[in-house]
Amino acid sequence: FSEEELYRPNFHFTPKANWMNDPNGMFYYNGYYHLYFQYHPDDNVWGPMHWGHAISTDMISWTEQPIAIYPDKLGTIFSGSAVVDISNSSGLGEVSKATPIVAIYTNFKKLEGDDNSKQTQSIAFSNDEGRTFTKYENNPVIDNNNIKDFRDPKVTWDEERNKWVMSLAAGDKIMFYESKNLKDWNLLSDFGKGIGGHGGVWECPDLFKLPVLGTDESKWVLFVSINPGGPNGGSATQYFIGDFDGTHFIIDKEFEKRLNEEHNYWIDFGRDNYAGVSWSNVRTKDGGKLMLSWMSNWDYAQKVPTQKWRSAMTVARKVQLKKDNNGYRLFFSPVNELSKYRSTKYKNENIKIKEETKLMASEAIDLASTEINFKISDLKKTVYTFKLSNKQGDQLLFGYNHGNKTFFIDRSKSGQTAFSEKFANKPSTAVRTSSNDNLTGTILLDKTSIELFYDNGETVMTEIFFPNAPYEKLSITSENKEFILNSIEINKLNFNKS
Ligand code: FRU
Repeated sequence: FSEEELYRPNFHFTPKANWMNDPNGMFYYNGYYHLYFQYHPDDNVWGPMHWGHAISTDMISWTEQPIAIYPDKLGTIFSGSAVVDISNSSGLGEVSKATPIVAIYTNFKKLEGDDNSKQTQSIAFSNDEGRTFTKYENNPVIDNNNIKDFRDPKVTWDEERNKWVMSLAAGDKIMFYESKNLKDWNLLSDFGKGIGGHGGVWECPDLFKLPVLGTDESKWVLFVSINPGGPNGGSATQYFIGDFDGTHFIIDKEFEKRLNEEHNYWIDFGRDNYAGVSWSNVRTKDGGKLMLSWMSNWDYAQKVPTQKWRSAMTVARKVQLKKDNNGYRLFFSPVNELSKYRSTKYKNENIKIKEETKLMASEAIDLASTEINFKISDLKKTVYTFKLSNKQGDQLLFGYNHGNKTFFIDRSKSGQTAFSEKFANKPSTAVRTSSNDNLTGTILLDKTSIELFYDNGETVMTEIFFPNAPYEKLSITSENKEFILNSIEINKLNFNKS
């Protein structure tokens, strides 16, 4: 197999060549979703960062565009965001041209000494709907007095108070700024010291308001990526629920209590979902947000066994907020647009499983391009294990242990794993928070990734893998305990490759 055949994803964005990390500057305008990304055009490992660019009409099929933002005398271009400046508050739009798009990003300048850098915040504007950008002449717009980690500005429009609000990561906290014109920024407050996970540096925040589904209430959500310190090691993204009063992010008291008792508020418990942020200027019909993340982990991202390109993005997901007896919790699911790619459907109900049972072989459906939905109603104290395998003996195990109420993914025998000690040293796990008697799940499979959405997206796990040959078979077993698989539906996802 060529690297392209074996590892180039069918429906996850990868750059044609070279290194990619965080998604940046995501906005929607005039029919297009824009995705910029941390990009090193000259090598397949991290280096001087640029903003690569891709566009899509549905967040699933992406077309790569020319590099959008290049390094300059203030430094290389780290992560950041972009907004559609509808009222031309910045004055950077030109009459008779398109609505201005303003990108807000970190300039990273290396200084003498190994670990020494200056990180400042700058802006650039586009009068052609995000295709090309011009740097603002008075950059940086936020200078830095010696804060070591000071980066990843994410700007949102605060419609109650008619102003722009920026969240910025500063080591062990998030700093909030306000602005009327995207050029002059005023420090408001900070959040996070002593709250949440602090196993590593805080990065890539995102602050936005979300309606609580089925109510008239809204709350504010704060994403904070952290590296390392993730629930299964390396980098991961935690979230907080609270309120924003125009100056402070105030964490919800009950949420904080549960956070202190068991810190299980992660947007994803798998090892490969990092630096995820939301699209600006767009929401789902019910007011939800749309996001995607980098599908890798700083523990091994630069060593994964692809040469031509490195890293993919997760599938785009919608983010919804619900409240139940256990308080507020976020739910994540693949965007609705994915369903338009469904074709062949295999459906079966009430299957009695006694021993390892084949659910699907690749003769029927290409497993590397599928969406699978399942339901198990009468949960027993046993381990439900799904297995993806091929004739080379590679296998990826994932499933649910109802004995200790824990989901798991075990990629230790999934193919190439030796490139990093940290890649498959132990299975990843996630405690099930739902107490629903029915276990339901959606499984998205691509050539090198699995995305698991359990309990309608209450618990999510995303991981990558590199088999020696395509996986050909999917089976299920449960430690020789009989059970009923109430339903299984396998949809082939059909992507016309150009
Ligand atoms: C997160 C991150 C950001 C930074 C960027 C540099 O993965 O470390 O904090 O802006 O990557 O590429």
